Amino acid sequence: MTSTDRITRARERDRRHVWHTWSPVGADRAGPMYSHGQGYRITDVDGREFIDASALNSTCGYAHPDVVRQLTEQAARLQHVDLSISSHELAGALAERLASYLPGPLNRTLFVNSGSEGFDAAILMAVAHGEHTGDPRRRIVSFARGYQGATVLSRSLSSLPRSRHPLRAPLPVTQVELPLPAHELRRPEALPVLLEAFAGALAADPDEPVAAVVVEPFLNVGGGVVLPPGFLPGLRRLCDDAGALLVVDEVFTAYGRCGDMYAVRRAGVTPDIVVASKGLTGGYSALAAVTATDAVHDGFAADPVIGGLRYGHTTSGHAVACAAALATLDVVEKEHLAERAEHLGAVMVEALAPLTGTGEVIDVRRLGLIVVLEMSTPEAATAVVDRARHGGLLLRRQGSAVLAVPPLIIDDEGVALVLQGLLAAA
Ligand SMILES: Cc1ncc(COP(=O)(O)O)c(C=O)c1O
Repeated sequence: MTSTDRITRARERDRRHVWHTWSPVGADRAGPMYSHGQGYRITDVDGREFIDASALNSTCGYAHPDVVRQLTEQAARLQHVDLSISSHELAGALAERLASYLPGPLNRTLFVNSGSEGFDAAILMAVAHGEHTGDPRRRIVSFARGYQGATVLSRSLSSLPRSRHPLRAPLPVTQVELPLPAHELRRPEALPVLLEAFAGALAADPDEPVAAVVVEPFLNVGGGVVLPPGFLPGLRRLCDDAGALLVVDEVFTAYGRCGDMYAVRRAGVTPDIVVASKGLTGGYSALAAVTATDAVHDGFAADPVIGGLRYGHTTSGHAVACAAALATLDVVEKEHLAERAEHLGAVMVEALAPLTGTGEVIDVRRLGLIVVLEMSTPEAATAVVDRARHGGLLLRRQGSAVLAVPPLIIDDEGVALVLQGLLAAA
């Protein structure tokens, strides 16, 4: 069989048998079919090479030798054991490492396989915490445009059209609409308006006190929204006044992407629970980390059924995934990728800022190395992504926002290529 025949067969099989995630029936996801990658470049099955600024979970880029070696060695040694009855050495090493990046009391990590599962666990923890402390609460406050995942519990926190589901919401949720347009929210003047909206949500139903406020430090799926400085500390104070836990969604922002190991660290805030995932293994394996304070963890001794958290998966804390995470974090630390993300993000925004107000571009903004061009409509954003792809640059669209999210290992030459592609496409 020629390689052209093989690729044609691969596309046919995919079109006939694969049910692609989050995709309209009939959408051709086998058109862009990739074969291999190296660093920030990815090559499709037809041999065309792209600069990849679209992979939301890419830390070390493709085929990083240290990550590949460590995960392969772990797979050959011991692929996994069940953490509900035993352990492996890497689980403790990784959990200790995460605790070292987080403020003092955030010491206990539950490993799961995805951000969505992380939120199911985090919400169970938050609601159970009220029972353990003799103050039962069920209501959750969240961003209407937040996205915490695809499971019934996690998607019930959101009003994004994609999160609608035909099942009943498991808990009462009060959702906070953005009180200002996305491009105004990053300004310091937006802070009191945004905090007032959360204060209103916390006080909305005195018969249903709030168990937890759940927020992302940057709204990813909700349209690339940067929040005003001081938001997390202000929200921490509101939660303390209301006796609610603060749960922060760092699925996208942690491990260098936001310009620090965690956005909460950067903000100087201690949440009760942090959920992180994507950059942790940089896409080399499926892993999410739910890190809670000792107080939340220790309270589970009072659980009436097993005296602990009734949650977990067969593959929770998979040893190969832990090896990939430890290798990824080594690279992030050794190569100072968090500081570099902050620097490169600033370089990119400075180069792109003159686009603001030209053509369909409404705003240019960023958090760390998440660079956002907000366009006037989703169609205009799609056109930018399509033009960039045509020119060899892969970008991401979320609503009307175009996101450029290169791997954190990208070098200066790569950043220049991303900028060139963006400037040509916008
Ligand atoms: C901020 C945020 N939280 C949670 C999730 C859900 O994570 P997962 O897709 O791993 O279930 C995502 C995924 O895009 C996300 O961006």
